[in-house]
Amino acid sequence: MSDQPNRLVNPEPRPDDRVDQALRPRHLAELIGQDQVKENLSILIDAARHRQEPLDHVLFYGPPGLGKTTLAHVLANEMGVNIKITAGPAIERAGDLAAILTNLRAGDVLFIDEIHRLGRAVEEVLYPAMEDFSLDIVIGKGPSARSIRLKLPRFTVIGATTRLALVTAPLRARFGAVYRLDFYDQKAMVEIVRRAAGMLNVETEPPGIDEIARRARGTPRVGLRLLRRVRDFAQVRAEGRITRDVATEALNLLNVDPLGLDEVDRRVLLTVIEKYSGGPVGLNTIAASISEEPDTIMDVVEPYLLQLGFLDRTPQGRVATQHAYEHLGFQYANREQQPKLL
Ligand SMILES: Nc1ncnc2c1ncn2[C@@H]1O[C@H](COP(=O)(O)OP(=O)(O)OP(=O)(O)O)[C@@H](O)[C@H]1O
Ligand SMILES: [Mg+2]
Repeated sequence: MSDQPNRLVNPEPRPDDRVDQALRPRHLAELIGQDQVKENLSILIDAARHRQEPLDHVLFYGPPGLGKTTLAHVLANEMGVNIKITAGPAIERAGDLAAILTNLRAGDVLFIDEIHRLGRAVEEVLYPAMEDFSLDIVIGKGPSARSIRLKLPRFTVIGATTRLALVTAPLRARFGAVYRLDFYDQKAMVEIVRRAAGMLNVETEPPGIDEIARRARGTPRVGLRLLRRVRDFAQVRAEGRITRDVATEALNLLNVDPLGLDEVDRRVLLTVIEKYSGGPVGLNTIAASISEEPDTIMDVVEPYLLQLGFLDRTPQGRVATQHAYEHLGFQYANREQQPKLL
């Protein structure tokens, strides 16, 4: 995904996300929201513990910042096993994966982030490893080459992806459990922000927390980031206390609007509305118009706009909805004639 150091609501991790590490829930019971996923996971864990077996392979998918990595750590922690962390693009050759696999101990979790970016050859090593816990190694070259089969300890792969559609069917089929993470509702976001404020020792008032939660686009990582920026503002301009007024003023200054839309979200919508009369317009065209990566728009911007009902995906391209027009102050009825700001 493209690097956008200045984009506040970009849910990609950054160095100052070390604080996030400290705030990261360690146990299933500490996780807020995602109730259905949590319930399914607790059954998965209990059953595996009961049979004294490693966990089945688990795949998490959903927009960035919703807790896929956190859940992988929680699962390993709850099972009392080690977690090894890697990512699709980091495993370049089949040999790299073989080295990782042969170093696993029984029960270990291998967390593969961005699993949709694994190479073909690497994936092919992963199939038998996940299915039969075995590794086929080719020794020698040419006519004398032969393959031997190594037994691996029983381990668990936890995969994470923002793009389920790009995970190949054979790989997907090897996961015993596949869970989709959704945006968090306001109640869960309030709890997440409140918990973090408590851990960071920030003085807050409930309406201040509400305001941060409302503008966090249903994403814990964004909520925590906004909380830190509002805390800075409160310290410098308001004696450290986060009230509704302080939160509102700080967030307005950061160009995060009352629904959590930022500059990039607005530019995407404005492009569709102003340049393409509301659409339909293709994703790549939008991306080129605002000089953004199509991947960023697809992973970070679009899911939230779809969730708000501001954008529709049609076979012809993206279409801005009446809600989007109204939110940005345009008249929907006039959309055929290049709309103007009211
Ligand atoms: N359910 C939750 N309750 C409390 N905090 C949470 C929850 N889910 C996530 N967080 C917080 O949000 C931050 C981001 O979560 P995480 O890194 O797990 O997201 P992710 O889905 O792996 O994102 P990416 O796709 O970018 O890798 C974490 O640091 C964690 O502290
Ligand atoms: Mg992650």
